[in-house]
Amino acid sequence: MGRLLYRGAEADIVAGSWQGLDAVYKVRRPLKYRLSVLDEAIRHQRTVHEAQMMRAAREAGLDVPRLFYVGPREATLVMELMPGRRLKDLVGEGLPSIEVLHLFRSLGRDVATLHAAGIMHGDLTTANVMARDGRLAFLDFGLAAHTARVEDHAVDLRLIKETIEGAHPAAAPPALKSLLEGYASSAGAKRARAVAGQLRAIERRGRYARVV
Ligand SMILES: Nc1ncnc2c1ncn2[C@@H]1O[C@H](COP(=O)(O)OP(=O)(O)O)[C@@H](O)[C@H]1O
Ligand SMILES: [Mg+2]
Repeated sequence: MGRLLYRGAEADIVAGSWQGLDAVYKVRRPLKYRLSVLDEAIRHQRTVHEAQMMRAAREAGLDVPRLFYVGPREATLVMELMPGRRLKDLVGEGLPSIEVLHLFRSLGRDVATLHAAGIMHGDLTTANVMARDGRLAFLDFGLAAHTARVEDHAVDLRLIKETIEGAHPAAAPPALKSLLEGYASSAGAKRARAVAGQLRAIERRGRYARVV
């Protein structure tokens, strides 16, 4: 079929082509420890769900790979190969460049756009965002959901914050500042304050939970 690009917890990402176009096949592998009828049903459902959420995110205005084929029975999505590099690989070790801060600002704006459409990404890490020529594209909507709750939107920001702090500690403070500025510029100050407040509340809960 093509070249294995990535092997995730549940899916293989394979580079190939589709009617002459560069494509990525996301194939959810059978999990041997699951009862096979159940496993098939789960892979089927997740494939359909991810395709639906990709469409919803695109309708909200985000750049998302175009879907060429949705194959629930093969648990396979065939989509456009997004050019560019993962945001994760662009951040680097030291303090972020102006270009990288600009990307985090766009990230904040795009996430706010998604949230305004009543969608949470659900797995918002810097590995699931691609950047090219200063523009971002979003991948991996398997855990996305329709929700307008402040709490759920704060969960997206919390994951991206943890990812940046874990992988790029020196870059984290300025990157997060840009992210939140971008978020507020799109969501409005009031909503941004509510989501950021909820984020702090989740973090406080997390700290207490670790102490216990
Ligand atoms: N459409 C795509 N274009 C380019 N790279 C992709 C695409 N889809 C996935 N990838 C690459 O494969 C990796 C894993 O894909 P992803 O959908 O995030 O799977 P998982 O659910 O296993 O994390 C991504 O981080 C990205 O590097
Ligand atoms: Mg991923």
